[in-house]
Order: sequence, then C-alpha cells, then structure tokens
Amino acid sequence: MATAEARDPISIAPSILNADYGHLADRVRETFAAGIARLHIDVMDGRFVPNITWGPDLVASLRPLADEFGAILETHLMIVEPDLWLEAFSTAGADLITVHAEAAPHLYRTLQRIHELGRRAGAALNPATPIAAIEEVLGELDLALVMTVEPGFGGQELIASTLDKVRRLHAALEARNLGARVDIEVDGGIHAGTIAAAQAAGATIAVAGTAVYNERGSVAENLGLLRAACGAT
Ligand code: DX5
Ligand code: ZN
Repeated sequence: MATAEARDPISIAPSILNADYGHLADRVRETFAAGIARLHIDVMDGRFVPNITWGPDLVASLRPLADEFGAILETHLMIVEPDLWLEAFSTAGADLITVHAEAAPHLYRTLQRIHELGRRAGAALNPATPIAAIEEVLGELDLALVMTVEPGFGGQELIASTLDKVRRLHAALEARNLGARVDIEVDGGIHAGTIAAAQAAGATIAVAGTAVYNERGSVAENLGLLRAACGAT
C-alpha cells in the first residue's frame, strides 16, 4: 500500500512581536541557539492593522545575529501599499518578504518585484479572505501565509475554520504539483495544543509568538513544549 506522502516535521518560526523588547537581542540569540532556523518579524503600520511595530531598521539590526547562526529573517508586512517598502526591506536583509493579498492589488507584479530583488516571496491571507485571492499566483510563491487569527496582535485564539483553509490550500498546491515548492505558513494562536492540528492540515511552517516568548518558561523550554507536541524542528 502506498504510504501517505512523507512530510518533513513542521518548522517553527518564532515571532518576536510579544518578546521583551528591552532584551530583544538576548531573546533572539537564545532562539537561534535553541536550533531555530527562521525568525518571523511582524511589520505593522497602524493602517492595515490597528497596531504599529517596526520598519526595515530592525531587520538590519538583527541581520548580523541571523548570519552568525545561518538563520533566515522573514518579514510579514501588515502594511498598506507594500510595494513602496519592498526595496527597503530587501536592502535591510529580509530573506523572505510576505505581503498581504488584501493590500496588494497587483499581486503578480509585487511578487515578481520581490524575486527581482533576490528575495523569497510570500502572500498572506486574512481569515476572511478566500484562497481564490492567491490562486492565480500560486506558481509565483515561495510561501503562502494563512492567518489563523485576525492580524494585529499576539496572544489570540486560533480560529478553527482557518485550518480548513490550510487543508484546501494544501490540496490546491498538490493538484498543481507545487506542494514541494511552496510552504504553507500558519500564523496566530499556535501553541502546544494547536500545532499538531496545523501540521496535520498541511502547514509546513508555524509562526509562534506568545507560545515562545512568555513568563512561563525560557525560550528553549517553550520551544521544547512545541517540538514535543508535533516533532517540530
Ligand atoms: C499577528 C502576527 C503574529 C503574532 C502571533 O498579527 O502576525 O505573527 O505574533 O502571535 P501568537 O503566536 O501569540 O498568536
Ligand atoms: Zn506574523
């Protein structure tokens, strides 16, 4: 009997959104030292989402640390008019630039531009946005990000119906023979109690913010809980 396709264990991309910014470099170092290969940087403009965070300078500041450990910096742009900022984030050292489909009306051109800059390109979907919003550009993607909460804040509860969207997106990629080329990333409400379900639905990367950076345990301990829940790397 043919076995179900062998999947690599899901990768964890810690989001520093809820880390203690006063000790940010220490927390990031602990994160990479614990074997994490990708860091998720949430960029918010106070317009696309009701919160404001960082710009390209933070990416540039963390770049040497990421290089020290050979890690990837991924930027999740929750901003309007992302085209205006692609070059700046690329120059700052973002390895992957993800824009929201809702904020990028000319998504094909935007993804092409990211690739022209030599970076990996991602497109994100809010919980209410259907897969159809990215269906025509699946072949241009390195990553599709399925928001499993409304973007803007950490610490929210995963919206269960979004995992069905992950399942359908996984099937759509497989149907186009793109399953091995395009990562599916889930973002929001991922913790030891939800990460296995996200993986089973087809996610290959799980963003985790408050599950990694909290008062309950060290970064290494918290990552240990997530890994134990699903065999994640
Ligand atoms: C939310 C951000 C997430 C956030 C996740 O808008 O995109 O990356 O940090 O936080 P948790 O894991 O706490 O839901
Ligand atoms: Zn994010």
